[in-house]
Amino acid sequence: MQLLENAIREKGRALNSDVLLVDSFLNNQVDTALMAACGQAFAEAVRDQGIDRVVTIEASGIAPAMMTAMVLNVPMVILKKSPSKILNEGTLQAEVFSFTKGAPYHLTMKTAYVHPGEKVLLIDDFLAMGEAAKGAASLIERAGAEVRAIGIVIEKSFQPGRGLLEGMGYKIISLARVAAMSENGVTFGLADA
Ligand code: G4P
Repeated sequence: MQLLENAIREKGRALNSDVLLVDSFLNNQVDTALMAACGQAFAEAVRDQGIDRVVTIEASGIAPAMMTAMVLNVPMVILKKSPSKILNEGTLQAEVFSFTKGAPYHLTMKTAYVHPGEKVLLIDDFLAMGEAAKGAASLIERAGAEVRAIGIVIEKSFQPGRGLLEGMGYKIISLARVAAMSENGVTFGLADA
C-alpha cells in the first residue's frame, strides 16, 4: 500500500536493524486518514470472504481493525493482554511469548463475541515473530470460528512471523512488507494489498 510505505519512509525511524518506530502514526499517535485507508485496503482484500467479525489485539491493532470493521460493517472484537481482575467467566486464554518484552503474557478472548462457524479476519499492527497472531488465531479456533485471513499493517519480512503463520496454513495480508532497514532507510518487498 503506497500511502503506508510513504508514511513509513517519511515518518518511521529504524531504531536499529530490527525495530521500526512508527509512534507518530500507529503506536502513540494515530493518523486516522491513513488508518481509514488501511481499513479500505483490508476490506477490499477480503471482500468476497463473507467475514462476520474482525478480531484484534489491544492496543495498537485497534485503530486499523476498527476502520476495517467499519468498511465491512461487522463488529470488532478486542483480545486483551491481561486477564480481567473482576471476571474471567466465559473467557478463553492463550499464553503468548513476547520476544520484545522477553516474557510471556496471557491473551484473553470473551467467547460471547466469537461464535462457532463464524468467519474471522484477524488484524494486528506488526508482524514480527508471529507469536501474538498465532495465539490469537488459536483462541478464535477454540471458539469454533475460522480465521479466513490475518491482516497485518507492517510486516517485518526478515523476521520469522510470516513463515510460521503460513506454515500453519494461514493467509497473510500485509499492507507493507519491510524487507530490511538501517539508518539509511527502509527497503520494501511486494505487499499483499
Ligand atoms: P509478535 O507480535 O509478532 O509475536 O512479535 P513480538 O513478540 O516481537 O512483538 C511484541 C510487541 O512488539 C507487539 O506489540 C508488536 O506489535 C511489537 N513490535 C514488534 N516489532 C516491532 C517494531 O519493529 N516496531 C514497533 N513499533 N513495534 C514492534 P505490543 O507490545 O503488543 O504493543 P501494543 O500493540 O500494545 O502497542
